Amino acid sequence: MTTTTYETVKQQLVSEPKTWLITGVAGFIGSNLLETLLLLNQKVVGLDNFATGFQHNLDEVQSIVSAEQWANFSFIEGDIRRLEDCQTACADVDYVLHQAALGSVPRSIANPIATNETNISGFLNMLVAARDAQVASFTYAASSSTYGDHPALPKVEENIGNPLSPYAVTKYVNELYADVFSRTYGFNTIGLRYFNIFGKRQTPDGAYAAVIPKWTSAMITGDTVYINGDGDTSRDFNFIENAVQANILAATANDNAKNEVYNVAVGGRTTLNTLYVALKENLSANGVDYAQEAVYRDFREGDVRHSQADISKIKNALGYAPEFDIIQGIQKAMPWYVNFLQNSL
Ligand SMILES: NC(=O)c1ccc[n+]([C@@H]2O[C@H](COP(=O)([O-])OP(=O)(O)OC[C@H]3O[C@@H](n4cnc5c(N)ncnc54)[C@H](O)[C@@H]3O)[C@@H](O)[C@H]2O)c1
Repeated sequence: MTTTTYETVKQQLVSEPKTWLITGVAGFIGSNLLETLLLLNQKVVGLDNFATGFQHNLDEVQSIVSAEQWANFSFIEGDIRRLEDCQTACADVDYVLHQAALGSVPRSIANPIATNETNISGFLNMLVAARDAQVASFTYAASSSTYGDHPALPKVEENIGNPLSPYAVTKYVNELYADVFSRTYGFNTIGLRYFNIFGKRQTPDGAYAAVIPKWTSAMITGDTVYINGDGDTSRDFNFIENAVQANILAATANDNAKNEVYNVAVGGRTTLNTLYVALKENLSANGVDYAQEAVYRDFREGDVRHSQADISKIKNALGYAPEFDIIQGIQKAMPWYVNFLQNSL
């Protein structure tokens, strides 16, 4: 059997542990990164202000790793909108994984100023702090929303359209700042354009929950599932473990892979109607039968109609090889949701 780049990198990390900073560590993606890195015996500093993250995500990671591994984690409750907090967090760190941001297109339409402050000013603070701390690498969460109204499918990194929401503007500005930091200061970063990541610890709560946790939660609690538009809207849903792999490969990449952005996806396309059936069937296999019909309503403002990534760039440059397709991801995620939601009922 051939060893993947990811396997090789993980073995190297175990034999030569590094210090990582994860911003947004109490969130969905951040807490999954934390879990994997601690299980690899890495040292991790985490920064979060709990704007949309949860202590229970950190508690869950603690329950999964050993006491020795948990002792390698230090948490800073702080805010990326404060430069001092970013400076404190970046001290003596090798690799930065910058995840902290206010996600959600509708949230940004409701409050563009809040989204701008965290996603642009906070991002700039992190760039300055990481540059000054001379970290070995800086990987940040970019977004497929940057493709905006560009009609081509699949999405190729260099062809982007006009942003369709304030959130998309902020994520595009991140890429512009990252590029300018390379040219102006020689500080080279990697941006990961995530396409609809899903998996355990993605919150089903609140007005801005993502579609998979929102529908899963509605099916488990017996609430109505709303489909925005005709259900033919499509996305390249990507299981969290693939995104974790992309971050670890990006952080440890050599210099010629830097100052670039990469799509992080599977390269598939699933409509909302197909997703609905897949979730329903999978929950049924987990003992939850949802008897109601979905209710169709208006399209959501700011939403891109179709999304699918070309992932050849990240495969070639970083050796990324997604290990889970959408169905395998759903199979892994559903038991967690059933357990989480039934415990909180
Ligand atoms: N989940 C996806 O499908 C997806 C897609 C594209 C991009 N992204 C990006 O990935 C990153 C992580 O997203 P997620 O899905 O884990 O969301 P999340 O909301 O679960 O995590 C974000 C974390 O950042 C923290 N945070 C927010 N503002 C902060 C501040 N001012 N200071 C410190 N911490 C702050 C939150 O408390 C939260 O823990 C974000 O940058 C998001 O824009 C996510």
